Amino acid sequence: MEFSTPLVFFVNGQKIVENNADPNETLLQYVRNRLHLTGSKLGCGEGGCGACTVMVSSYGQHRDQIIHLSVNACLAPICSLHGMAVTTVEGIGSTKTRLHPVQEQLANAHGTQCGFCTPGIVMSMYTLLRNNPRPTQKEMESYFDGNLCRCTGYRPILQGFQSFTKDACPMGENCCMNKKDGSGQVTNNTDGMVNGVANGEADETSLLYDPSQEPIFPPELKVNAHLYNTSLKFSSSSNTWYRPISLDELLDLKKLHPSARLIVGNTELGIEKKFKNAEFPVLICTTHIEAMNEVQLDERGLVIGASVTLSRIQEAMQSAVDSLPEWKTRIFAAFLDMLQWFASHQIRNVAAIGGNIMTASPISDLIPLLMAAGAELYVMSKDSKPRYVKMDHTFLKGYRKTDLNPEEILISVKVPCSNEQEHFYGYKVANRKDDDIAIVSAGLDVQFQKGTDVIENISCAYGGMAPTTVMALKTMAALIGSHWDESMLTKACNQLEADLPLSPGAPGGMVEFRRTLTTSFFFKFFITVKTKLIEKGIITEILSPEKSVVSLGPRACTKGIQVFEEHTKESPVDIVGHPVAHNSAQQQTTGEAVYVDDMKKIEGELNIAFVLSTKARAKILSVDTSDALQMPGVKDYVCAKDVPGKNIFGVWPMADEEIFASNEVYCHGQIIGGIVADTKVHAQKAAKKVKVGYEEMKPIITIEEAIANNSFDGESRSMGRGDTEAGFAKSDHVIEGEVRVGAQEHFYLETITHRVIPQNEDGCVELYASTQAATDMQLQVARALGVNANRVVVKVKRIGGAFGGKEIRPVSTALPAAVAAVKLNSPIRTDLDRDEDMIITGTRNPFLAKYKVGFTSEGKIISLDVQMYLNSGKATDLSRSVMTRALSHCENAYNIPNIRATGCLCKTNISTNTAFRAFGGPQSYFIVETWITHVADFLGKPTKEIRELNMYKDSDMKFFKQPLEGSNLTRIWQEVQEKSNYESRKKTVDEFNRNSRWVKHGLSLIPVLYGIGYESEANFLNQGSALVHIYLDGSVLVTHGGVEMGQGLHIKMIQIASHVLKIPRDKVFINDTTTDKIPNTSPSAASSSSDIYGGAVKNACEILCKRLEPYMKSNPNGTWESWVGAAYMDCIQLSASGFYNRSLKWDKENGGKLFPYWVCGAAVTEVELDCLTGEHEVLRTDIVMDVGRSLNPAVDIGQIEGAFTQGYGLFCLEHYKINPDGILLTQGPSTYKIPSFRNVPVEMNVHLLKGSRNDEAVFSSKGIGEPPLFLGASVFFAIKDAISSARADEGITGYFRIDSPATPDKIRMACQDRFSKQFPSAQKGSYRPWFVDL
Ligand SMILES: Cc1cc2nc3c(=O)[nH]c(=O)nc-3n(C[C@H](O)[C@H](O)[C@H](O)COP(=O)(O)OP(=O)(O)OC[C@H]3O[C@@H](n4cnc5c(N)ncnc54)[C@H](O)[C@@H]3O)c2cc1C
Ligand code: FES
Ligand code: FES
Repeated sequence: MEFSTPLVFFVNGQKIVENNADPNETLLQYVRNRLHLTGSKLGCGEGGCGACTVMVSSYGQHRDQIIHLSVNACLAPICSLHGMAVTTVEGIGSTKTRLHPVQEQLANAHGTQCGFCTPGIVMSMYTLLRNNPRPTQKEMESYFDGNLCRCTGYRPILQGFQSFTKDACPMGENCCMNKKDGSGQVTNNTDGMVNGVANGEADETSLLYDPSQEPIFPPELKVNAHLYNTSLKFSSSSNTWYRPISLDELLDLKKLHPSARLIVGNTELGIEKKFKNAEFPVLICTTHIEAMNEVQLDERGLVIGASVTLSRIQEAMQSAVDSLPEWKTRIFAAFLDMLQWFASHQIRNVAAIGGNIMTASPISDLIPLLMAAGAELYVMSKDSKPRYVKMDHTFLKGYRKTDLNPEEILISVKVPCSNEQEHFYGYKVANRKDDDIAIVSAGLDVQFQKGTDVIENISCAYGGMAPTTVMALKTMAALIGSHWDESMLTKACNQLEADLPLSPGAPGGMVEFRRTLTTSFFFKFFITVKTKLIEKGIITEILSPEKSVVSLGPRACTKGIQVFEEHTKESPVDIVGHPVAHNSAQQQTTGEAVYVDDMKKIEGELNIAFVLSTKARAKILSVDTSDALQMPGVKDYVCAKDVPGKNIFGVWPMADEEIFASNEVYCHGQIIGGIVADTKVHAQKAAKKVKVGYEEMKPIITIEEAIANNSFDGESRSMGRGDTEAGFAKSDHVIEGEVRVGAQEHFYLETITHRVIPQNEDGCVELYASTQAATDMQLQVARALGVNANRVVVKVKRIGGAFGGKEIRPVSTALPAAVAAVKLNSPIRTDLDRDEDMIITGTRNPFLAKYKVGFTSEGKIISLDVQMYLNSGKATDLSRSVMTRALSHCENAYNIPNIRATGCLCKTNISTNTAFRAFGGPQSYFIVETWITHVADFLGKPTKEIRELNMYKDSDMKFFKQPLEGSNLTRIWQEVQEKSNYESRKKTVDEFNRNSRWVKHGLSLIPVLYGIGYESEANFLNQGSALVHIYLDGSVLVTHGGVEMGQGLHIKMIQIASHVLKIPRDKVFINDTTTDKIPNTSPSAASSSSDIYGGAVKNACEILCKRLEPYMKSNPNGTWESWVGAAYMDCIQLSASGFYNRSLKWDKENGGKLFPYWVCGAAVTEVELDCLTGEHEVLRTDIVMDVGRSLNPAVDIGQIEGAFTQGYGLFCLEHYKINPDGILLTQGPSTYKIPSFRNVPVEMNVHLLKGSRNDEAVFSSKGIGEPPLFLGASVFFAIKDAISSARADEGITGYFRIDSPATPDKIRMACQDRFSKQFPSAQKGSYRPWFVDL
């Protein structure tokens, strides 16, 4: 065998010849570290977020065609790219030359906030256009199944890209394409409102996409394609990569290296390597073996080579479906249906069918279909005869074990055509529709005796019910000969129960749900096939429409409006109140925006990786670093004894955590030490080799365990008014209940990353940090290093999302890095992988509430007693403030005469929980809306009636004696109903539900009343500073203490400066936030940054204006530059510091201002629910929100939509799972599901309240970052409404409890019916659950 090297490929048109290709290296590592193309981001490293998406192009000799594929660079081995061309975000456009239309359009459409996801989204869209220059809107919207964004809520991205589609814009006549100026702004002259926030500065031509302008595929790769189609071998010190080009070569290599692993997409092996520490010394890539890459259709079926990717299978099956009679392709149709939910475009573009079969995962999507279809495998090895293997019940031999011998190679798979009497369907339920692995999947096949409904043969294969995919053999045998009728269905359900048992503590949990799905799937199959038999006239029964619809309909394309008040300009350059794009939008869409990890390595820079506790509670008996210190590249191990100052941290000046655990560990993921090495990979590998000896102790994990063990953090706190006991005595009815809200992982796309640079003099250090709280970090680093704060500078350019998660927790990794930097006197970088970030950094506090509510028969609430417990984890962090917010918002928008709210902080052995957008507000509101629903259900009245009966009036006082003046609650409540057409839609929903048993609609209407900003207790944070310099060329540099994390703070500050100074915005620049320019910054949190830093910037600019005023007056026709020049010549200072503060005064007795002012909103949401699976679709959401006089409607609407989407995630999707021993089970996007593109409401309408003004903040605006988050719960309550209808059909009425998040398992089990009742829950405490509720 002759093998050629080096590795040759192209990146952005440039030829790369790599003589030392390392089989372990991914494309992402290569482009970022070696080529310094840092546009492509590392968000997860497991193919689950799409931040690393690039386009890979290759020339297919056989098809004489250039193929462009979107690919996850984090999983693509560099060795797989020989002879291919890679395009990264830098390769398509730049601010220095010309932006690509995709980049420009996304920037103009406000499709970026923090921008970390943006390059990946740009590259997905770009790849789609390269393949299909004028896609339909549907094609476009389904293309982002592999991309996540945590900030925007996705709507602006989809709406922005609509201009590239060929369908008419759903904005109708409001479409920006219909406007001459291309601005997208449509003024409705009658009421001064504007619809559509497209950037007013947009250039019309940017909307056009011209494929002829694209760079050409490198001719060398086409002309000399044969030269690239050679056998390859790449070796590093530990690994070898072979790429044979013939079957013989492959068989020889496999004989020579019997334990070698074959590789195609690396979507399974890559995960095993990263997360299971697997090593693959020899890899054999089978992408170029012809026999394994062919797809052939004959009379009997489709023969698919084992290396054929899933995307190609989709193409081949679609072409068969399009060309053959319907009855022949029913199996292919079921595959197509399933494949659209298989992972993402990026994964399907590289993952092969062989890899899926050979991985033999119990939750594979394809194996149940292949087994039910009776697929046949063709396998070969060097020394034995080729053989055919039937994929039946004997094929799988155990967990991830198949019938193939280790030396055998899967060559191809034959998927049969169906026959005329055959019906075949596939089913899958996952927590999220886009890119999620199955909870349960199934392939169900039936063949009837000709012309009858008598079963001749039936095959039922289920995934997710055992360590392997299983066939329900007893069920299959029992049903043969049966008619397709109710008695057959009953028999099937009984047999499936016996065939597919699961013990209550089975891996994966959700046991009753999974068992219920087995029969629910079968029921869907039953109804669908029955409908077919009725259509054919084989069964004469008439199936009523209410019974025949058993699945959600196809999702429509998204649409929506964003309406805001038109503001007149005070000067030609005035942009306050206008929808101006984020100041970094273009840098973000071109990949030029620099985040900490994008900074080039500096001389001597090292990386630190952490040794983390693997126990939740234990004494540390020993730490053995001997093996780790021998590993390549390792420089040192740092731990508690290396801390020059104090080994403590907390919320400054508090300190209740250790930087490095010294004697004991208190949670899984606590930092014990750090390995410093020359690269991140070396440091991480060595950190895993450190052996820690533990003496385990029993951990406290849940709130209930903390209560039972009296494990509280400080005293409980109360707020309230009146006399609750007297109130209960006066009430007609008193109800009690309990509800919980689960944890929420922040999942900012940029994980926590810092670089610490020791300055070699006076103990100074400089930190580039991803933090919302620069000063807090500065002070804590100084304390750890034993130096004064004036020796520590913390700099923040931008951060890739934060949401509260980067307020305090980043300190936990910055401090070890700072200790290492000082000890080794070297710059140190720490950038966490996604799993490390999720394990170390904590979440939104989970809550458990016990409530007692007294009310009249009419529904007037008289008395409320609510006891709230939050799980703070191992330390306090911001949990007290979280509880303060929860207590002060314990009645949301309802006026209750007697209230007692008590809050306890539970100390447990999980990572320290922390701030998350809106602190404890959403949890508290959720508890309120739960007992409101409870009261309504108790009385049998609509929830809206109870809400309205109790709702505050704007003239009322909040229960803690702060006037509600300026809240606009009443108007918002009315407007949201008008805009959403609530009343008539409620009737339509009821009508729909009367006629539909298995698919239900639900409608909700909820308010939010939010006290914005830091409360009076923390009034010291209501201050902000800014520094404004005017340079002699007239340019202005603004620096302020706030951090830009995607929320559009900098652009608002630029708008304010440009407005006050009356200069065009492009004269104003903001660079970074640094503690040596602005001292004592308040964290960018509490929705306050625009208020306090806006006030400070305004103040500084006004001072400067005052200084320039004489020059303007004396030379009214002069230019800005001339005034600046003249002032300078007169020795006038052209730099000013601005300051803003607030003074909140409140006390229990007299009330006053606990919060600076009120922000209100309300939402109406409609959902469609599949009662058989618990899946749902959000059909429409209408939001009315008060933002005062918006500084920037595009930014504010972006905040509303982004917060809504996060709230939707919190209450309906994001299930954070920890096992009873305190080990985190959800460590990445594969297991923790944040909302994805498909979760955008099909119709999303946002209205900013007209005419609202606010004296408490800059230019009459209001802060908006946090309040709308709770409106995401409108999805939860709409789902609950739909479940009520399903229960009512079963004769079950009255209140029922559902905890948050309402994931499909909870929803399905609440939809009580014959299938769910078949599988009652096991007694709690009688088994060890797979995960616990925190
Ligand atoms: C983000 C993400 C999402 C995913 N979503 C899904 C999903 O929704 N549903 C699902 O079922 N799976 C899913 N997977 C799993 C995975 O993508 C599939 O199993 C995929 O088909 C594997 O193909 P591959 O070519 O990448 O395999 P590789 O990783 O290249 O190989 C996988 C295994 O198969 C072996 N192998 C490959 N070809 C052969 C052959 N011809 N003969 C013998 N052995 C062979 C390899 O040696 C290796 O052990 C997901 C994975 C990721 C990373
Ligand atoms: S970094 Fe590659 S998909 Fe997340
Ligand atoms: S803008 Fe998408 S993750 Fe921040």
